[in-house]
Amino acid sequence: MLKLVYMFSTILLLVLLIVIIPTAVAAIIGAPLALTRKRQVKDIIKKAALKPGQIFYELGCGTGRMMIAFSKQANIRVIGFELSPLFYIFSLLNLKIHRVKNYELYLKDFFGANLNKADIVFCFLMPKALAKLRSKFEKELKPGAKIISPGFKIKGWHPYLVIKDSKNLPVYFYRR
Ligand SMILES: C[S@@+](CC[C@H](N)C(=O)[O-])C[C@H]1O[C@@H](n2cnc3c(N)ncnc32)[C@H](O)[C@@H]1O
Repeated sequence: MLKLVYMFSTILLLVLLIVIIPTAVAAIIGAPLALTRKRQVKDIIKKAALKPGQIFYELGCGTGRMMIAFSKQANIRVIGFELSPLFYIFSLLNLKIHRVKNYELYLKDFFGANLNKADIVFCFLMPKALAKLRSKFEKELKPGAKIISPGFKIKGWHPYLVIKDSKNLPVYFYRR
């Protein structure tokens, strides 16, 4: 009996570590989970002025909310990255529930992803992560690609558009 309890608690501890450690790392190097507000989503999509066939990247996709919303637009391919296994599974289930077909979802650190195919990059992250991403954007993004950042500015860049909701929360739009 004691052996069984020991085995069970070891497995539980391992699972917790596998889930908790990457989730904590993501919160430190990128941002903890906070979702883009539902009421901002429609406006963001409208202002993104998508064109059929474009590729949308979400860096730190959380629950997959933005991937799902963008995938509903004409012929848009959505690609998401999530470091936390917990939120990755949540996003995967959410994409399946919403019957999203044209997607790729990676359990991986977005700093290691190549962004050269992206037409639109969505990143709801802390300023420190955005500052680190800036040089990656400059190196990898094609000219004209759009970067959408709710909440925080990308230091040293000037947004071509800022929208605010009724609570005055900004969303910054940049162009590479
Ligand atoms: C503020 S939440 C944004 C969630 C979603 N994009 C939204 O707007 O609703 C940030 C997400 O990024 C993830 N994240 C942070 N750093 C990451 C990294 N380096 N690679 C992949 N995901 C990361 C976190 O786990 C979290 O789910």
